[in-house]
Parts: sequence; C-alpha cells; structure tokens
Amino acid sequence: MIRTKIAGIGKYLPKKVVKNQDLEKVMETSDEWIQERTGIQERRYGRKHEETTTTMGARAAELAIERAGIQKEDVDFIIFATLSPDYYFPGCGVLVQRELGITNTEVGALDIRNQCSGFVYGLSIADQFIKSGMYKNILLIGAEMHSMGLDFTTRGRNVTVIFGDGAGAVVLQPTEKEGQGILSTKLHSDGTYAEKLAFINPGCHGGYHTKHQEEEVDYGYPDVEYGEMFVTQHMMDNAQLFPDMEGQFVFKMAVQKFPEVIMETLQDAGLQPTDINMMVPHQANLRISQFVQKRMGLRDDQVWNNIQKYGNTTAASVPIALCEAWEAGAVKDGDLVSLAAFGSGFTWGAALLRW
Ligand code: UT7
Repeated sequence: MIRTKIAGIGKYLPKKVVKNQDLEKVMETSDEWIQERTGIQERRYGRKHEETTTTMGARAAELAIERAGIQKEDVDFIIFATLSPDYYFPGCGVLVQRELGITNTEVGALDIRNQCSGFVYGLSIADQFIKSGMYKNILLIGAEMHSMGLDFTTRGRNVTVIFGDGAGAVVLQPTEKEGQGILSTKLHSDGTYAEKLAFINPGCHGGYHTKHQEEEVDYGYPDVEYGEMFVTQHMMDNAQLFPDMEGQFVFKMAVQKFPEVIMETLQDAGLQPTDINMMVPHQANLRISQFVQKRMGLRDDQVWNNIQKYGNTTAASVPIALCEAWEAGAVKDGDLVSLAAFGSGFTWGAALLRW
C-alpha cells in the first residue's frame, strides 16, 4: 500500500528577534499582558527589502530538499501556503520555483490560501497526489512575512503582538514501508465567520459582504468607483489595510475544533489519543495548546510548543514546530505524530502520520 511520508524537513527563522519589550516602545502593551494571554516572549521579523515570504520559504525548502537526499531538479510539484504573499498575484509557488532555480517546466506550482491551516491542507492535497501516483517528490512550504502588514500602533495591538515571520518546508514522497506515512487527514471549513479573523482589504469586494454583518460595518468603499477596487483613499485614511480579529470568538472556536478534528483522524486510523507520541498543534496561542493538551489527556512531553520564541507564524507554524521537534530528537522513526490547525476562514484540519 502506498502512503505519503515526510522524506525531508527544514525551517528558516529570520535573525531579527523582537521581544515583547520592543513592542512596548511603539504601542500600549506590556510583556506581562502578552505572556499571560498568549505565552509569547519574542518573535522574529524578516529583514526589510531583503527577505520575503518567498525567500524564507526557499531557505526552508533547500534544507528539506537536502535532508530528503534529493536534488532541486527532482521536485515535481510545489505547494505554497501563505497569507502574506510577496505579490497579490502571481503567488509564491512560482516565485519560489524561480528562487530555487528550478527551470523544469514540468513542475506544477499551486498556491493555497488557508491561513493557519494552510500547511495541513497542503499536506492533505499532497497526500492525494502521491497516493494516486501522480507525483513522487512534492515540495510543500508554509511561510509568512507578517511584519510587513501589521498595524504597529495601539489600535492593532491585539493582532500585532501575536504574529511573527518564518518558514517551514517538507519534501513528501511515496513509501511502501509497513505502517509508515500519513494515516489520515481531515479538513473542515465554515465560511459563516469569514470576517472574524480577516485581512479584508485590498480586495475586489466593493463592500458587498457587509450584508453578512450583524451591525453596519465600514469596508472602506463609501462611493466605490471602477478602478478603485483594491485600495481607496478612505481605506488609507481609516487604517483599513490591516488584519482584524475578534480574538475571544476565535479562541472559543479553536479550543472546540482542535480536539474534534484530531479525534476524527485518530478514529479514522483506529487509534487513541494515548497512542500519540507527539502532537504538533498550530502555534496560535499557548493557552489554546494547553487547553487542547488537557482535553486530549496528553503529557507535556507529548506536545510541542514553540510560540514562546516565534509567535504565531500562521502557515509556517506547524512545519517550523515539527522541524524543531524532529531536530531535537523528539520525533523519531515509528512515532505517531498528530498535526492540527485552526484559523481564519474558519478553516481547520488535522493530519495523523507515522514518522
Ligand atoms: O492563528 C489563528 C487563530 N488565532 C487564534 O486562535 C487567536 C485566538 N485568540 C486569542 O488568542 C486571544 O483572544 C488574544 C490573545 C488575541 C486576545 O486575548 P483576550 O484575552 O481574548 O483579550 P481581549 O481581546 O478580550 O482583550 C482584553 C483586553 C482589552 O481591553 P479592555 O477592553 O478589557 O480594556 C483589549 O483592549 O486587553 C486589551 N488588549 C491588550 N492590552 C495590552 C488587547 N490587546 C492587547 C495588547 N496589550 N497587545
């Protein structure tokens, strides 16, 4: 039976460390508030004008490719997950192909926009391609350069203090080794709450979706004109070009959906929470991870958390954390690994695999 295995994994974290105390200097926040509510102590920011989502993704990919023991030219499909792409279009998939110097046009490149669950969605997509025999070396990247698009005033503090930059990547290959590989993936979405965690502008919505809001919302298009569909002066004047989140609502949904979807994958594989050797949750908030850990009845050594050092790196958080766990020897051959994510959309999902 053909399954999909992670043949190589890599991560890239930019060097610039931004501590909570650094954010205290530019907005009304405190190290105490951030640590108490999120567990975050510091995060990384990419170098302006030198690093991008694509370049960080490429650095993580190079390591994953090397560790998989293949050459760049062996990659036959690229999947890139991010919410902070270099360009509005084209996506980072083709940009990373160029950055890596892959000139083979037989390679396909796919961009996925599933925010926090982007990597888990990508894993599930890659799994289908590998099992069907269509591809043999899929490069899956999750990368984010949040720092270029955050509101560094007090107005944006509930979102800005959480996010960090970074990238993670895996090379996925077929395996016929008994028991090894991806055992189950489960994906979900609920568009009802699309605006609860969103970066709405720039877009082509023209204010249309206000009809889904309970209260009247200003979407930045008081008198929209053709040609003004992306950015209006109104948006710039009213700081409507930043991400927005209703934190408590998202938190409540997250702590419900994480355990549910993890259990679905376990049931699919006929396994129990106690069988998990390592759970690597999306690093959204340390309090969410701790809640999920408790709900699943897992010990501290069965859960990998690194949000304290890197903040929430959205599509990059699962592969960065998984890579770190593997590098630390906390994920070994034969281990049962549970990956799960929940975020904007809402979209959420989980993957269960034997390393
Ligand atoms: O990765 C994608 C999925 N995302 C998540 O899962 C995030 C889920 N949500 C959360 O993690 C939490 O809701 C947050 C960490 C974002 C916020 O924590 P909270 O305990 O829900 O705080 P809150 O939004 O209810 O705000 C409480 C207070 C407010 O002040 P008042 O109205 O009580 O006076 C905020 O203005 O804290 C204030 N506040 C801050 N204070 C200092 C909000 N952000 C900050 C800040 N520093 N950075």
